Amino acid sequence: TPRILSGIQPSGGLTLGNYLGALKRFATFQDTEAETIYCIVDLHAITVWQDPAVLATRTREAAAAFMAAGVDPAKSVLFNQSQVSAHAELAWLFNTVARVGWMYRMTQFKDKAGKNSENASLGLLAYPALMAADILAYQATAVPVGEDQKQHLELTRDIAAKFNHDYGVEHFPITEPLIEGVATRVMSLRDGSKKMSKSDPSDASRINLTDDADAISQKIRKARTDADPLPGTMAGLKDRPEARNLVNIYAALSDETPDQVLSRFEGQGFGSFKPALAEVAVAALEPITRRMTDYLADPAEIDRILGRGADQADEIAAPILAKTKDIMGLLRSR
Ligand code: TYM
Repeated sequence: TPRILSGIQPSGGLTLGNYLGALKRFATFQDTEAETIYCIVDLHAITVWQDPAVLATRTREAAAAFMAAGVDPAKSVLFNQSQVSAHAELAWLFNTVARVGWMYRMTQFKDKAGKNSENASLGLLAYPALMAADILAYQATAVPVGEDQKQHLELTRDIAAKFNHDYGVEHFPITEPLIEGVATRVMSLRDGSKKMSKSDPSDASRINLTDDADAISQKIRKARTDADPLPGTMAGLKDRPEARNLVNIYAALSDETPDQVLSRFEGQGFGSFKPALAEVAVAALEPITRRMTDYLADPAEIDRILGRGADQADEIAAPILAKTKDIMGLLRSR
């Protein structure tokens, strides 16, 4: 059976980009024959400084967001990465398989390390080996993510292939990325050339899953656009990235195609489109925010759920890790 795995960093509040690109899709795989494993990747988050008390809170918030978006701990394995030691162990083994040059080529490393990359944590450079470990510790076959994770998933495939080749085995699967839909790259509301991100200094650039109806409406009203009327199809939005982004968001939220959305707004301006978008966004997000708040009222229950998920994850990963050690000649005598 196919095994689906994905992860989200608890490094900040989750955004509409995380929701449409990833979270919203996670629940849909639960109702297929696939086995679903979802992970809050706290070990990835600490590759840049995290305040310890805030990190714990953000981890519970992320767990609440998964469940509010429909991930059911009775159907999926849901846990935080640091509770399952196979991730860190396998990541070390992959550090010996992956090449330094592969890591320096990662655009996310270049972006996050900035100009003074010598001063970045070693973990930030090795980040993709840990991500490969998240996936391959379960021999996962498919990984739903947004467009920005494509390069990391290619590296995961490279690590699996090099391991299999170096040790002459067919041990790790070559994982398929699942980058699908119209919201694989939700852009900033302030700048149509930048992706919407939890780390953008401007809060107006993103919609947070914790924003209330007023905040959502206001951010959409202030979103940067042009002054032209909307065309009848997406082909007419070629050179209008901000307009394209808003139409894509509308379509993803309402489960329509962008052309279906545009067919209703042809000839109209943003004065009528933005309030309609705000209405769709509030209707879609308000129940999620409410469910998140409900879950967060009982943090001990969240911790129990993550603990049970970690036990289940351990059971799947432990024999795969043991087999990996055997293949590599790492002696196991207990
Ligand atoms: P992270 O935490 O940055 O983002 C979580 C998920 O949200 C998607 N995403 C977006 N999708 C569309 N538009 C956007 N503006 C947008 N911003 C974020 C991301 O593509 C991702 O799917 N390295 C990963 C976490 C990770 C992981 C894994 C993912 C660690 N191990 C194993 C899959 C499998 C990351 O930093 O995602």
